[in-house]
Amino acid sequence: MSQKNQTLGEFIIENQASFKYSSGELSRLINSIRLAAKVVNHAVNKAGLVDILGHSGDTNTQGENQQKLDVYANEKFIQMLTNRNIVCGIASEEEQDFMAINSYDNNHQNKYVVLIDPLDGSSNIDVNVSVGTIFSIYRRVTPVGSAVTIEDFLQKGTEQVAAGYIIYGTSTMLVYTTGDGVNGFTLNPAIGTFYLSHPNMRFPTHGSIYSVNEGNYIHFPQGIKNYIKYCQMEEEDRPYTSRYIGSLVSDFHRNMIKGGIYLYPQSSTYPEGKLRLLYECNPMAFLAEQAHGKASDGYRRILDIQPEALHQRVPFVCGSAAMVEDVKRFMSKEHKL
Ligand code: AHG
Ligand code: MN
Ligand code: MN
Repeated sequence: MSQKNQTLGEFIIENQASFKYSSGELSRLINSIRLAAKVVNHAVNKAGLVDILGHSGDTNTQGENQQKLDVYANEKFIQMLTNRNIVCGIASEEEQDFMAINSYDNNHQNKYVVLIDPLDGSSNIDVNVSVGTIFSIYRRVTPVGSAVTIEDFLQKGTEQVAAGYIIYGTSTMLVYTTGDGVNGFTLNPAIGTFYLSHPNMRFPTHGSIYSVNEGNYIHFPQGIKNYIKYCQMEEEDRPYTSRYIGSLVSDFHRNMIKGGIYLYPQSSTYPEGKLRLLYECNPMAFLAEQAHGKASDGYRRILDIQPEALHQRVPFVCGSAAMVEDVKRFMSKEHKL
């Protein structure tokens, strides 16, 4: 039985047998993510002391400014996953195209592809506010023995075999699911070990926090505007309180523990929403559902959306189940944008 203070290494071994495709490959993959998390954590923690703050001078594939830590985290995760030769493909927010991974003696035998947002909330790096890493894992759909194709990455969120995030906050945590609940592990930095600190994490069914960038309010669809006004109204359990860090991982983590909802709706600036379906919304939606929460684009379940492009964006509403249902109700009363 998993128990508090069990190490992540022990937990992975213990739970390997209960995973339906158990061959040890997924365990090795999560172990590599664990190692990369420690390396990136080290860089994030001493960010003010070394020349790693600020812009890298480049833009990424979405035309956004890359921070030096975006580039660093991207390199470390890719390095860790390729050196150990345990995945057949990687897609990242920081790379235009997916990468097919193969070692000279492996002949494309690996089964898993990984999609990552190496550094989430990067606008918070320079001001010492929590950032994160998000990952999503699928089994390939193309045959073993051949190079991966875009098809292996454009799978519905329902097909994920594992997903998680690392939060580099007041403490560093790795939170993940393999489809059997959500567990959170806290890093003891003195000895470099993650311990199970948050077993079986669950969203309260209802909460009193709403997280949205209200600076964009006038651009939101009417249904979202109405929901925000509803949150602010004086009623039995309202007004709710507003908390927005601007780092999806941190906002999600807080809401999962305390009860709340995160919204990044479509707007005239971002007609498709801002967040990326494959390496931001799907992994968070999988975690949310595993933690008894919900994730929607305002109308549809996120995990049911058929992806069409690697960097596709989608409106995102995620959190306590009853609160997500409230937003859907408000949206259904209004016309689509
Ligand atoms: P990233 O740093 O990976 O580009 O992601 C930033 C995302 C998300 O983490 C956050 O919630 C949102 O963008 C913040 O956007 P605004 O600054 O527009 O509110
Ligand atoms: Mn992000
Ligand atoms: Mn990012």
